[in-house]
This record gives sequence, structure tokens and C-alpha cells, in this order.
Amino acid sequence: MIKFLLNNELVTLDNNAAEVSVQQYLREQKSLTGSKEGCAAGDCGACTVVLGEIALSQSAIFYRSVNSCITLMAALHGKQLITVEHLSDGKTLHPVQQAMVEHHGSQCGFCTPGFVMSMFALYHSDKPADRETVNTALSGNLCRCTGYRPIIEATLDSCGNRQADKFSAREDEVLKQLKAIASEDTLPGINKVYLPPSREAMAALLQEHPDARLVAGSTDLSLEYTQQLKTLPTLISTTRVKECLALTVDNDGITVGAALPLNDFAPVLHQQFPQLHELIDRFASLPIRNQATLGGNVANASPIGDMPPVLLALNAVVMIDNGSAYREVPARDFFTGYRQTVLADKEWISAIRFSRLDAQTQMKAYKVSKRHEDDISAVCAVFTVTLDNGKVTALSSGFGGVAATPVSCEELEQRLLGKTWSEQSTRQLGMEILDEAFSPIDDVRASASYRKQLLANLWQRFWFETQTELLATTRVTAYA
Ligand SMILES: Cc1cc2nc3c(=O)[nH]c(=O)nc-3n(C[C@H](O)[C@H](O)[C@H](O)COP(=O)(O)OP(=O)(O)OC[C@H]3O[C@@H](n4cnc5c(N)ncnc54)[C@H](O)[C@@H]3O)c2cc1C
Ligand code: FES
Ligand code: FES
Repeated sequence: MIKFLLNNELVTLDNNAAEVSVQQYLREQKSLTGSKEGCAAGDCGACTVVLGEIALSQSAIFYRSVNSCITLMAALHGKQLITVEHLSDGKTLHPVQQAMVEHHGSQCGFCTPGFVMSMFALYHSDKPADRETVNTALSGNLCRCTGYRPIIEATLDSCGNRQADKFSAREDEVLKQLKAIASEDTLPGINKVYLPPSREAMAALLQEHPDARLVAGSTDLSLEYTQQLKTLPTLISTTRVKECLALTVDNDGITVGAALPLNDFAPVLHQQFPQLHELIDRFASLPIRNQATLGGNVANASPIGDMPPVLLALNAVVMIDNGSAYREVPARDFFTGYRQTVLADKEWISAIRFSRLDAQTQMKAYKVSKRHEDDISAVCAVFTVTLDNGKVTALSSGFGGVAATPVSCEELEQRLLGKTWSEQSTRQLGMEILDEAFSPIDDVRASASYRKQLLANLWQRFWFETQTELLATTRVTAYA
């Protein structure tokens, strides 16, 4: 059984009424057909809805946009589900809808409900309504006929002039209702998806259902039934296990719970590693980052995932749990083959631990994809170099898109030790090593030869961007 608010209505659903995805439920059970199915893969945003949940402060509702086509019904437990049908009061349009009318933001209208819901989530956030934030807020929505300028202008206009609306007026009441659901002592779940509240309960469920699979944000797993039309197995969610939701910063580094969505831990990660800003901002789209977790990205072990190269280059540690004991595995030992990891039966990733970089270490992360936003990497490369008096004392690397698993290049890391970083021969040697190290494949994202060229070019870019002395001299010469 799960409980949630469908706008203001308290809904209790058991397995008899179970649908798999939120979109199926809305369209097939509730005849709420505003959210559309475009791609059923999290790519187009036509199905966008907004979930309200108790904010960390416990005193407000936090609204996030999600793709209903790949959101499991179980994920609604304890939340408020708001669709495009709920925005207007029947007489007056919501300010974001009115702005779409005034700015001529809709033509065929297929994408419009999704855009409106992304706009609504921004309207209810404390983010500034500047062009960059608006672009990010709309990054998961595609429009094929109107064009983006009127939609962006409608968003700038409405979100730049926020007024209290009917949702603000009911916020305290909604908060009370969601807290009441959260305080209930039941094991929620629906349609074979369980939401254990503790690591012990998680371990017990894994014993009880030996064939069950884990799920977190479901942004990878859902595609198995929406695209590959597989039958959903029993699923056990990590999203309510306290240890999987940890986010701690101490003198040594940062620990990120495996079930935290990217948007929840990104600000902390950015603070510690500002070099990762672009990579994380270019990870999928905002609605996907509202659900996609670090644990899911790492456990998935995709050779083209964006976070594994980061874990490799930063020598992160994967903390694995089975409910009674933890073990720590260096990220470098975690990936064992194509989509294979060291995770044993009935184990899960609890958290990932990143150590801080010292002042002598420089780091850069690069993602190359066909489309700048919302696209999977053709190649992802992350490098760090530590220098002492201009000589390399440590170098580490992580790559995606060049082998069957996320990989480091140990030869690069070893053979460059002791070299003078600013010498052209160091750059050249790195290129030669990388050219030999991998045999990438041809696929729709890139040809093998393009990937090889990218490796060499990204290495050179890293070398150039970290030549602080060289850059300083160049600047002086340029202004002389
Ligand atoms: C439109 C779209 C765009 C995307 N763009 C990107 C991108 O730019 N870069 C990128 O890297 N990825 C991208 N992805 C892939 C996906 O969003 C990420 O891999 C995401 O981090 C997966 O996390 P999740 O919580 O949704 O995982 P889920 O789908 O819930 O799970 C994925 C796998 O991990 C397992 N799992 C989950 N949590 C745990 C755990 N704690 N312990 C052990 N196993 C676990 C599950 O059993 C499952 O096999 C994209 C996906 C979509 C749909
Ligand atoms: S239908 Fe395209 S993102 Fe959901
Ligand atoms: S209005 Fe037609 S796709 Fe956007």
C-alpha cells in the first residue's frame, strides 16, 4: 500500500489498483490526460509532473519536476503529486500558464503541459529567474514547433514576478498531511516495489525475495519496461534507508549517500570540487537529476556513465552494505566487467566517499557528447595532477566511453611520475600512452577513431589548462 496526495486529495492505493508508472496511473486510472507520453524514456519532458515533498527544513514543501513516464508509483509515497490539471482554479489560469498565453508559447500544444510543469517547479523554488536558471529549468523539455524563445520569455516573466498562489496558501496543510503519512508505522510498497525504512528491513526483504532487484531513482531501470517491454521484477527501493541518504562533509572529504538524487548533493560536491560543475550540470536534464542517484549511476556500471570516471580519478571509495556489515571497496576495484561489479548477492551500495584534493593537486573533468544538454557522453575524461616544484608526484585518471567498463589508465599514471609537467615531452608522452591504451568501439555516439582522437585532445587540453606558469607568461607577453 502507498499513500500520497493527488493535489489535495489523499489517495491510498493497494496492489489491486497498481499501475507501474505515474503516467500510466494518471492517464489510465484517473483520466488525467494532460501529461503526455512522447518518448517514454525521460528524454522529451512531455510527461513532466511536479512532486511536492517535505523540505529538509521540515517546515516547507519542496517541489521538484520529474518525468512521470519513468517514475514508479511507489515513489509517490508520502509526496504530493501535482499535474497540469491542478494549476488553474477553473476560472483563472496559474501565472505560468497565463504567461505562456501572453508570450505565445504554444502551438500544437503537445509539449505545453510538460513545459508548464517545469515552469511551475521553478515558480515555487527560491532560485533567481535569470536566463541561465530558466534554461536549466527547461532543459528536460523539447518543443518541436513553437521554438524556445517565447517559452523562455514566458518563464522569465512569470517566475520573475512570483506571487503567492493557491499552493502557497495550502502549504501548511499539505505539510501536515505529508508528515502524518511519514509518521505511519507501515512498510509502504505497491506493485512489487517495497520501500524499506532501514538497512535491517532492506536486508530482510532481500532475504525474503531472492530474485528482487534494487531501485533508487528508476531513471535507468524504468527503461527496461518502457523500452525493452520487460516485466517488472520485485523491486526494493534504497530511497528511505537513512544511511543511503547521508550527506556529510568533514576534514577529510565528503560522503554521499547512494540514494541521494544528483540535484540534492550537487551543491555540496560543487563546493568541494568546483571543477565538476560543468560535468554535473550536463548530466541528463534537471528532471532526471531530480531523481537519478549516485548509487544508481555507479551500480549500473555503464561504460558511458558520467560519475564513474570521477570516482576513479578521485580515488573514491564505494561503501557496500548487507544490513549487518559494511565493506569498503576502492572505486578502482569496483568495476569488474561490462556492467559487472564486485557487489555480491544481497549487497547494496550505501554511500560513496570522496577525499579532498590538496592545494598542490589540480583537476579537470571533460564531457564530450553530440548534444550539449541532456545527452550521454561519447567520451568522458577526468584527470588530476599533483606537482612538487613543477614535477609530477601523482597523476590519476578516469575515462568513460573508451572501454567495456569505466577505466583509469595506470600506465599514464605511472610513467609520468617525476616528469617536469611544463615540458612538451610530458604532453607528448601522455598522448602516445593514451593512443596505445584503449581500443574504443564504433557506435551511434562516436566512431572509434573519433574517440581515440578525443582522448588525445582532452589530455592536451588538460595539460594546457594546468600550465599555470606557462599561462602567466603568455599573458604577460600578450600585454607587453
Ligand atoms: C533521459 C536520460 C538521460 C540520462 N543522461 C545521463 C547522463 O548524462 N549521464 C549519465 O551518467 N547517466 C545518464 N542517464 C542514466 C541515469 O539517469 C543514471 O545512470 C542515474 O544515475 C541512475 O540512477 P537511478 O537512481 O535512477 O538508478 P535506478 O534506475 O534506480 O537503478 C539503476 C541500477 O542500479 C541499481 N541500483 C540502484 N541503487 C543501488 C544501490 N544503492 N546499490 C546497488 N545497486 C543499486 C539498480 O538495481 C539498477 O540496476 C540518463 C538517463 C535518462 C533516462
Ligand atoms: S514521455 Fe518523454 S520524458 Fe516522459
Ligand atoms: S508546441 Fe508543438 S511541440 Fe511544442
